[in-house]
Amino acid sequence: MLLHGGFGTRLRPLTHTGPKQLIKVAGKPISQWALEDLRGSGIKDVAVILGNIAPERVVEYYGDGSWLGLNLTYIYQGYPHGLAHALYMAREFVGDDPFVMYLGDNIIFEGIARFVKRFEESDSEAMILLAEVPNPQRFGVARFDDKGRLIGLVEKPKEPPSPYALVGVYFFRPPHIFRAVESIKPSWRGELEITDAIQRLIDWGLRVDYDVITGWWKDTGTPEDILDANRMILDSKLEGRILGRVEGAEIQGRVYIDEGAVVSRDAIVRGPAYIGRGTRIGSGTYIGPYTSIGSGCEISNVEIENSLVEDGVVLKDIDSRITDSIIGSRSVVAGKSNKIPSGYRLILGERSQITL
Ligand code: G1P
Repeated sequence: MLLHGGFGTRLRPLTHTGPKQLIKVAGKPISQWALEDLRGSGIKDVAVILGNIAPERVVEYYGDGSWLGLNLTYIYQGYPHGLAHALYMAREFVGDDPFVMYLGDNIIFEGIARFVKRFEESDSEAMILLAEVPNPQRFGVARFDDKGRLIGLVEKPKEPPSPYALVGVYFFRPPHIFRAVESIKPSWRGELEITDAIQRLIDWGLRVDYDVITGWWKDTGTPEDILDANRMILDSKLEGRILGRVEGAEIQGRVYIDEGAVVSRDAIVRGPAYIGRGTRIGSGTYIGPYTSIGSGCEISNVEIENSLVEDGVVLKDIDSRITDSIIGSRSVVAGKSNKIPSGYRLILGERSQITL
């Protein structure tokens, strides 16, 4: 089960026009990294639970999933009433089979294959993954007794009982988890929390296992998280490959240049960096480390680093370097023209963030 809903409030305006899980990092939507992880764990049948922000864009992008080697079924959650509600929507889809619930905005470096295997070989009702984090207040947090046994889970606690956050990948065996969802009430944030449903399983004396992940994990809820994920993916998952045309430009380090992209003569691309299909990198341009540029972009006379540029963006003639930025698809950022009155000319969507 791949969860693809939610409001994405902290990522507006990027999420006014599409779900956050479709934001592309190094050429692939965040949820595609999750789907490929599921496929890599031997899973073939996935229910994608859709929210109410442009769900048709998800269907349009993934289709029946065959191009990914998956068989996708779409389920419309509509208004996001919480993760437990989303899970409940898929009860007919899962039937009696054990299943994985993967939040489509989570990226896990090591992948989940070994945890899927462990769960399949066990007979526990549920298994959760934990990660030690510096800011557990932002997550569901595990509570242990003095023998290290898991005794509880609490959602976004002011005073975390441990530094172990719940990673957004959960393993369940029907039917108890569905009964647990039926027994819980909405939390203070008005959502049916998966954390509370798992707490029920523990309270009923059912076996809930846990494992701790050691590599990086990212829940991409904020712009900073997206930039972190971009950096981590470019660092660890990007292969250097030049499929497009490099017209004598300087390419340094690990760079992926997709088909149909053109990098012109006096440009410099310093990896790790990703340049999407059909993008044109014009003269006087410096693409610095940790930058993902989408497909069909036109970039000339610009310096940019540690940034994420979505598809169809135009960037040209900008005096200062663009850094730590996310630029939504089909945006245009152009330097000063000679038009008077002089000054910045901005057409910004709601909740845009600009530092001038
Ligand atoms: C949700 C869960 C939380 C978990 C997190 C992982 O939080 O409620 O327990 O730690 O996902 O990504 P949310 O993204 O809804 O704030």
